[in-house]
Amino acid sequence: MCGIVGYVGGEVAAPIIVDGLRRLEYRGYDSAGIAVHDGESIQVVRALGKLKALSEALGDKPLAGRLGIGHTRWATHGRPSEENAHPHVAGGVAVVHNGIVENHIELRSELERNGVVFRSDTDTEIVAHLIHQALDGGAEDLLEAVRRGLSSVEGAYAIAVLSQHEPTKIVAARHGSPLVVGCGEDEMLCGSDIAALLSHTRDMVFLEDGDIAELSAGGLRIETLAGQVVERQSKRIDWSPVMAERGGYKHFMLKEIHEQPDAIAATLRGRLDLEHGDVYPAEIGITPEAATSLRRVYLVACGTSYHAALIGRYWIESLARVPCMVELGSELSNRDALYFDDDLVIAVSQSGETYDTIGAVSAAKEQGATLLAIANVLDSAIPRLSHGALYTRAGPEIGVASTKCFTAQLAALLMVAVYLGRRRGVLTEDQALEVLQALCEVPSQMNELLGDADYVRTVATHLTHATDVLFLGRGYHFPIALEGALKLKEISYAHAEGYAAGEMKHGPIALIEEGLPVVVVCPKNSSYDKTLGNVQEVRAREGTVIALATKGDEAMHDLAAQIIWLPDAPELVQPFLSVVPLQLLAYYVAARKGHDVDQPRNLAKTVTVE
Ligand code: M6R
Repeated sequence: MCGIVGYVGGEVAAPIIVDGLRRLEYRGYDSAGIAVHDGESIQVVRALGKLKALSEALGDKPLAGRLGIGHTRWATHGRPSEENAHPHVAGGVAVVHNGIVENHIELRSELERNGVVFRSDTDTEIVAHLIHQALDGGAEDLLEAVRRGLSSVEGAYAIAVLSQHEPTKIVAARHGSPLVVGCGEDEMLCGSDIAALLSHTRDMVFLEDGDIAELSAGGLRIETLAGQVVERQSKRIDWSPVMAERGGYKHFMLKEIHEQPDAIAATLRGRLDLEHGDVYPAEIGITPEAATSLRRVYLVACGTSYHAALIGRYWIESLARVPCMVELGSELSNRDALYFDDDLVIAVSQSGETYDTIGAVSAAKEQGATLLAIANVLDSAIPRLSHGALYTRAGPEIGVASTKCFTAQLAALLMVAVYLGRRRGVLTEDQALEVLQALCEVPSQMNELLGDADYVRTVATHLTHATDVLFLGRGYHFPIALEGALKLKEISYAHAEGYAAGEMKHGPIALIEEGLPVVVVCPKNSSYDKTLGNVQEVRAREGTVIALATKGDEAMHDLAAQIIWLPDAPELVQPFLSVVPLQLLAYYVAARKGHDVDQPRNLAKTVTVE
């Protein structure tokens, strides 16, 4: 969702800020703006729409200062418009803000009673007025004024602030929304995530909730909301700026689909013990004793990560023989769920910042459950909250539609299942070795599949005008059907439904009529015969079958209008492979329709609101 970038240093700030905002575009936004201190006063330029509009506005009014803040806004309070775009200014204070001020109604009324006239509908403008009033009320500097201003704010926020009277500083604060400080040479930056700052520095300080930071060209000072000075270690990030570039691909999504073999290999690297059929437990944070005495496992996630969690359940139940529940973060936080000390809750999240997932797993932690994070973004909120964190090493995922993080999450979940299975005495060394060897084969099998991407592109031409598409799968491929449908609807805007193939007779079969495209994931495995029965049922009702089948499956030739061939692989690792053609299918349909594949309408990459 919204993105923040700030810069203070020796260079002209505006182009650096706009470049940083460009790298945050993937988070989703509908307007953008920038405020620069030019040595005398704060100049603000804002525009409705994409950064192109902001750049054009900056062309008419170039900003020359070496200190500034910028923002991409995803509307929550107030419609998308230039007036509601950030930065918001109140008496010489400019503020950009991510998150939500929960007590905005009472704060706004109080300010209005005191004579403040608002120029926008946003909750952010309230923060600007509060800081301005604190300065007027005698706060000794901007940092102190921010502290006083925030003392009455409830909710989640990350902010960056400039003051007319302090032309060398940015003050930034975080509580519940991510904010990173990049420490360059004689320059400091801040941003909503590291992708915005990577082209300047790889040395990052991750602010903690309650931190207020003062950034100047010469250094960084961090205090808590209570006024105590704190030291935060800077971390060297091993993502390179090139990883956040398109690298010759038309879209990030296509690049990221092709990066999956590397993302999986990186996620496995150094974590498997192929001599003893085991995985290295260090980061998992679950002691062998805790693994043995587990009562239940909860997997909590949203969207695509939820689909990865659904597959994780199959592995955890069969390889570790422990009851496993999968919950949507957005629903679990609406329930008064019960946890025990011997429950393991695994939060699966690409961004590590999904509000619904954070809310759900925080409640579990409060009740004593052990929390493990599977996340892709270092030091994000969910890993910080958790007792252990197993990072996927997919590198930056820029396309809003998640692809490589999904398969990297699968790799992490399978490792957890093996770890638990070994500790619990369910898996022998040889059995675990068999699983891990199959997992190690996945990157090369995926490469083989990706070699056929052009064929999937031709299949996609048959779906370009489809308004409804049904996806069916069984077992491991039921979540894959859900994921295939989600990918298609997210970026092609076609109506798509994923169903458990066995459920077809219980309702969706009524939808099938002549020409309805039905994508059936039907590789050779233990449920092949049953799924093949579903293929026949679709055919009998004149639906058009697009099948994903194992190479050499002759029976499929007579049944399916289109066949995408999958490499022969053990059932357990098949979902890693069957998802790839579905990602490609969605991509090619959307690209053919000319959609903005990387930033589909209405969607945000990191969903930091409820
Ligand atoms: O960052 P997370 O994995 O927690 O995000 C969860 C969902 O918002 C995310 O998977 C969303 O569904 C993506 N747009 C899927 O492509």
